[in-house]
Amino acid sequence: MKVTAKAPANIAFIKYWGRKDEKLRLPVNDSISMNLSEIYTLTTVEFLPNLKSDEIEIVGEKISEEGKARIIAHLERIRQLAKIKTFAKVKTKNNFPKGTGLASSASGFAALTLAGTLAGGLKLSLKQLSILARQGSGSACRSIPDGFVEWKAGNSSETSYAYSLYPPEWWDIRDIIAIVGETSKKVSSSEGHVLAESSPFYQPRILGMKKKLQDLKRTLKIKDFEKFGEIVEAEAINMHAVMMTSQPPLFYWLPKTVEIILKVGDWREVGIPVYFTIDAGPNVHLICLKKDEKEIVKRLKKLKIKKIIVNQPTKGARIISKHLF
Ligand code: DP6
Repeated sequence: MKVTAKAPANIAFIKYWGRKDEKLRLPVNDSISMNLSEIYTLTTVEFLPNLKSDEIEIVGEKISEEGKARIIAHLERIRQLAKIKTFAKVKTKNNFPKGTGLASSASGFAALTLAGTLAGGLKLSLKQLSILARQGSGSACRSIPDGFVEWKAGNSSETSYAYSLYPPEWWDIRDIIAIVGETSKKVSSSEGHVLAESSPFYQPRILGMKKKLQDLKRTLKIKDFEKFGEIVEAEAINMHAVMMTSQPPLFYWLPKTVEIILKVGDWREVGIPVYFTIDAGPNVHLICLKKDEKEIVKRLKKLKIKKIIVNQPTKGARIISKHLF
């Protein structure tokens, strides 16, 4: 059977940085994210008896050997669960703008997990899908459920999965992504996780996590935007402090990243409630309320940001009827 899935990228408000089990991709702490409406991956999978090996294509991109091996390893997990030996044809399309440093293993492995399992004849629960997606890429487990999502770190493969805290309609907030360019240092998050514990700030970060998670969940529940934004911003700075102090250090920011960070502070001073968060790259995510979206986009344009993507909360991975081949 040929199956096509669409999965969103997600932005973490409380981040996953560091693992307690490399092989199973068990994170050291729980994390909380929101699925993004405007950046996603489409993936079609079909297991075909005549194939001699897996055929993988990412539209408009050249796949690295490492990337290919990671996808094949994931297909292998699916084959084992489905008890099949057939190779698969996989075609994937990302809608992210090219050359912007925006790439997401989260949307990619979430889409591959949903399309691949159904194409292999499996009907997994949301929990099982999230567990499987996590093994391809940690953050992918958060792109399976809808809206606002929590990934419980767990202490085994079966207990480490994400679930929906609230549907997308819960809170009409925005994630405005300011694309500032390619990351200057090409260290993937997969490699970065391994370096995290070499930072002297890693243990203090973990020690503060429990309270931070509780506080963020409370602000999400009562929709206290100001407190929510303060936690989100402090958390991003905290993770980047660990990155910058690991051995070797990881500097994901560019001059433009810092320029926007400083502006966000200025904008708050003139009464616009806006907060930033940043993943393992230079692009800045500006979190704001719907009512302030236009004003913030206007201000970003004045800073000559070449590409701006306005996201709202959205559903998780789902099946679509239009195939890529
Ligand atoms: C900074 O999920 O990309 O975006 O499990 O190795 O694929 P792998 O790592 P990945 O790490 C994401 C790191 C982050 C924070 C986050 O999304 O929580």
